[in-house]
Order: sequence, then structure tokens, then C-alpha cells
Amino acid sequence: MSTVVAIDGPAGAGKSTVARMVADHLHYAYINTGSLYRALAYAAMTSGIAFEEITPGFLQGLQLEFCGADLYLNGKKLDTQLRKPECAKGASVVSAKPFVRDYLMPVQRQAADGQWIVMEGRDIGTVVFPDAEKKFFVTASAEERARRRMAQSSEVADGATFESILADIKARDERDMNREIAPLKQADDAVLIDTTGLSIDEVVAKIASYCKN
Ligand code: DC
Repeated sequence: MSTVVAIDGPAGAGKSTVARMVADHLHYAYINTGSLYRALAYAAMTSGIAFEEITPGFLQGLQLEFCGADLYLNGKKLDTQLRKPECAKGASVVSAKPFVRDYLMPVQRQAADGQWIVMEGRDIGTVVFPDAEKKFFVTASAEERARRRMAQSSEVADGATFESILADIKARDERDMNREIAPLKQADDAVLIDTTGLSIDEVVAKIASYCKN
């Protein structure tokens, strides 16, 4: 049994910062499920395998597990290497593969088992935990998300411009929303939070107040 607060939404909507702060506020555990897809992209990159070419056999050779909010791949803690733009793009590509989603489903469910937890991603409220206690869909306009991304230097490729970041965000939205399995979409029973023009503290306060009701 677990009590899950699901926070889904598109890339760059500020989900991670907000989800972590909501978890702190509620004294819940926190898991960022995007890091799992990023870890598979990272594993492919470091093995010299193109994202499109990964196979179920490749996944069987990997060991992925959370220790608290920290993610370990084959015993090694992953952190800043996952924030690179190539990993973000690779994560979006590998996440469209049904066998990848099947492989990561039990990892996510096990990570939440027995916990009070805030879990963020794309399909937490729709697929991973359709019975989550509370569900939020956090979004912002593509332009606002590109502006925010531009301010996060670790996630921006050298030489990137506002236009190139906006194009990347739109391409990622397109892939995440239109894949056949577990596409990014708002669950029918999720609360929509449009963060355009809101501060992080305002968004956290909004979500926390829904959780306390
Ligand atoms: O949240 P993020 O930017 O770290 O996610 C990276 C990619 O992983 C995203 O483009 C789509 C995929 N993803 C997913 O398909 N399902 C999730 N629950 C989380 C992320």
C-alpha cells in the first residue's frame, strides 16, 4: 500500500522543483520518474548504442534502483549526467517503446511501495498509479517553458538559442503526447495547474492546499 500524489506534465513546466518542494512540505518521499527514462538513454549512450536501437536484451543487463530519491544504475549513483540535453532527448525517444515502459513499471511501483510519496512524470496519474490519492497536471505555455529552460544552464546545449530551445520543447511535447503507449495527457480526475505567470512558491502553495483538503 502507498499514498501517492501524482504530478504529471510536459517538459520544462517546473514539475521537478515544485514536486520536490511539495514533498518536503508534506513530509512525503519524492521520486522523479523521468530520471529512469534518462538513465536508460544514458546507458545507451555510454554503451555506444543509438536510442532507437535499444532492445529488451539490453535492458535485462541493467540494474536500476532508487535509494530514496537517488537513482542507481548498476550500483553507480546517477546525478548531473542525466540533466544533459542529449539525455533528455534520448529519454523521450526510448520512452515511446512499449518494452521500455513495461520494464520501468515495476521499478516505479516498487519505489512507491509502503510510502507516502510525491511522484512526478508523464503518466503517473493515468497509468502507473491510476488510483493515486491526488493528481495534478502541471503545465505552462511552450514559450514560458523555453524561457525557464534557458535559465537552467545545465540543461542547455552549448550555442542554444531561445528559438532552438523552444523548437526542442515543442518536438518533445509532440513525441510525448503522440506516442501510442501511455502518452502525456491530463488524467480526467487531475487538477490542472497552469504555472504561466505564477511563482514556484505560489504553485507549491496551491498544490499543498489541495493535498490538505
Ligand atoms: O521529466 P523529464 O524531462 O526528466 O522526462 C524525460 C523524458 O522521459 C520525457 O520526455 C518523456 C519520458 N517520461 C515518460 O515517458 N514517462 C514518465 N513518467 C517520465 C518521463
